[in-house]
Amino acid sequence: MKSAAFLSLLALAGLSAACSHDHDDKEWTQEELAELEAKWGNEWSFNGIGTFAHLNHVKCLTEPTEPFDIAIVGAPFDTAVTYRPGARFGPRAIRQASARQTSFRGFNPRAGINPYQNWAKVVDCGDIPVTPIDNNIAREQMTQALKQLGRRRTVSALAPKPKLMTLGGDHSLTLPALRALTEVYGRPIQVLHFDAHLDTWNPAAYPSYWGETHFTHGSMFWMANQEGLLSNSSSEPSVHAGLRTRLSGTDWTDNIDDTAQNWVRFAADDIDDIGVKGIIAGIMGALGTENPVYLSVDIDVLDPAFAPGTGTPEPGGWTTREFIRILRGIEGLNLVGADVVEVSPAYQGNGEETSLAAAQVVYELITSMVKRGQQDMGKEGGPGHDEL
Ligand SMILES: *[C@@H]1O[C@H](CO)[C@@H](O)[C@H](O)[C@H]1NC(C)=O
Repeated sequence: MKSAAFLSLLALAGLSAACSHDHDDKEWTQEELAELEAKWGNEWSFNGIGTFAHLNHVKCLTEPTEPFDIAIVGAPFDTAVTYRPGARFGPRAIRQASARQTSFRGFNPRAGINPYQNWAKVVDCGDIPVTPIDNNIAREQMTQALKQLGRRRTVSALAPKPKLMTLGGDHSLTLPALRALTEVYGRPIQVLHFDAHLDTWNPAAYPSYWGETHFTHGSMFWMANQEGLLSNSSSEPSVHAGLRTRLSGTDWTDNIDDTAQNWVRFAADDIDDIGVKGIIAGIMGALGTENPVYLSVDIDVLDPAFAPGTGTPEPGGWTTREFIRILRGIEGLNLVGADVVEVSPAYQGNGEETSLAAAQVVYELITSMVKRGQQDMGKEGGPGHDEL
């Protein structure tokens, strides 16, 4: 990465004469190119055109031969929300808030690695151009795009398949992501879902005089279960964590329906009784370290004091620190993809607290993906064992 050149600022004084005879047909030597890189190749955190963490930008959807191991992909879509709109500006806000992450200053002390200078080629694939006009077309665009990217060639044998880190957009994008993953992996997936809300709501349970709308940011997990994308095996449940939502009606029907869709639930309040460690243990106990897991982070899992910039805020959530600590504790999961959704920057403060939290979540998840790949390298028969 370019920022290694930072140190060579010291050598600036010695750089020089090459410039005086630059002209159009000049043949550049490797040394001269290296000198240009050393001289101009670094970016300050506030420089550049705003990719995630200053990563290289590849328009992956139109450049199908460019391989990558981990891709940041934006899905700027928000017309399936039920309250505040605006998450279409989430990917831009998260990228902007990631500006102080650079490859040079990217070492993650809790993990002992710099995810941007390790085995994985991490690129920013830009955004899926999702229509804001028609949700059926939007769903199809997101599905096709994520299927395409999920089948791409990787660079390292440590990533047999590329991992997609999707920036929302509203939460409905998780359905396209799960459709893509189940196709790529050829099996149902378990989900770890951080959210104030269940999002397993059965659309038929809501007033529908004017016709049912299935595809919303609260029904995509119900749809995913109906489509067979989630495991129904009791030994392979999916997990909600951070819940504090109101339920419909006068009883526990929503929770009963959620259990029937094979979910286990950790409430936001549970952290007071079992602590961060208890939440981590519960999640790892349900998901293990081998099965492919998709991790979906609705930023409203955080309390509105920490993340007001979101579509459906619910008081009483976790702090940013508690949540990051939980993410660090579950680094052993076999993550095959992830999303961070529902960042709606119009409702955040000037200090960008919500999108900063989202950018940090992305960094922690990429760190864990890279670290997990590194550990698999050492395992007998693990990915890459034969190749490396
Ligand atoms: C799980 O159950 C639902 C509801 O009965 C069904 O539609 C879905 O196909 C099942 N999933 C799998 C992976 O078999």
